[in-house]
Amino acid sequence: MSRPEAVRFESVSKSYGPVVAVREISFSVARGELVTLLGPSGCGKTTTLRLIAGLELPSSGQVFIGERDVTRLPATARDVAMVFQSYALFPHMTVAQNVAYGLVVQGRPKAEVGERVAVALAMVGLEGLGQRFPSELSGGQQQRVAVARAVILEPQVLLFDEPLSNLDARLRRRVREEIRELQQKLGITSVYVTHDQSEALAVSDRIVVMDRARIAQEGTPRELYEAPASRFVAEFIGEANLLPVEIARARSGHAMVRLGPVDLELPARDLPPGPALLAVRPHAIRLAREPGNGRLPVRIAKATYLGAHIEYELESEVGAILVIDRALESPLVTGTTAFAELGSSGLCLVPA
Ligand SMILES: Nc1ncnc2c1ncn2[C@@H]1O[C@H](COP(=O)(O)OP(=O)(O)OP(=O)(O)O)[C@@H](O)[C@H]1O
Ligand SMILES: [Mg+2]
Repeated sequence: MSRPEAVRFESVSKSYGPVVAVREISFSVARGELVTLLGPSGCGKTTTLRLIAGLELPSSGQVFIGERDVTRLPATARDVAMVFQSYALFPHMTVAQNVAYGLVVQGRPKAEVGERVAVALAMVGLEGLGQRFPSELSGGQQQRVAVARAVILEPQVLLFDEPLSNLDARLRRRVREEIRELQQKLGITSVYVTHDQSEALAVSDRIVVMDRARIAQEGTPRELYEAPASRFVAEFIGEANLLPVEIARARSGHAMVRLGPVDLELPARDLPPGPALLAVRPHAIRLAREPGNGRLPVRIAKATYLGAHIEYELESEVGAILVIDRALESPLVTGTTAFAELGSSGLCLVPA
């Protein structure tokens, strides 16, 4: 993994008056990689993207694109292109004119522009629609025009700010796959902003999770899901039960952990003895009808049939627990007692 870096932030901060939108963040994006900035509303994602584009300049710190320090360069001097949430297409121009726009501004010869527009439109599956106006396209098609208009410039870095949020759920899924496929096929370094964790898991090589202007954790989708570093990340990436536990002792990387009456041995993750939280994914719990070693007594508070699985809400001495159970044949009855057994994966200690 020593691919050359395409984007690098070194301790970058951005303030608007008293508001610190981005606080001392450092991260990098390798060439050809798609990195997603993920986090709740207001955490600084768009600001970070605009700092890459040069639409904002940092209050402190340095921004590099490739080898070049671009910290003080305006947007027009940076080799990046951005796809906006609103698409920002020119309504009075045809699809072909919209896609051609950047090349025309660069003063490229007409024949070359025509050829490259045709290639770009074919790439996003819009061949034949060049003479339509944006108002004559569906939302998904308009989004593809916006992608074609950015890709045609062959930028060093392609930026996406919540590109799917104007689409309905089904279309969102399809377009995100199209964007990912195109990005991989062309090998374009991309930074993608979303607040939707499933979208982030689906499209990203790596994810940078942001929380209140800082980076909470970065890693591959799998690393973040399987080993969240904090309560915030555990709750933000996928669903998690956060159960209070006591770490009795930790030795050679393993911790003896007490969860109510149950003893567990888990990777210690450098946590000291004392109170901690156990993040348990809802699918990592198996429900039994009989008590047994390592089983936590629970009461079935609610059972919801959801087609492919049953969702159980449990009450227990360590608090409420949500379970996703794929055993549909013999559902447990609300109000009865059952016994919860934790699997070997889908569990992770996090600091209290
Ligand atoms: N031009 C501005 N002037 C003042 N404050 C701003 C400006 N732009 C952003 N902010 C503030 O900076 C913080 C981060 O904003 P940013 O737009 O980066 O968040 P975001 O993560 O993209 O949120 P969302 O998911 O809602 O788009 C917010 O508190 C916001 O109010
Ligand atoms: Mg935003």
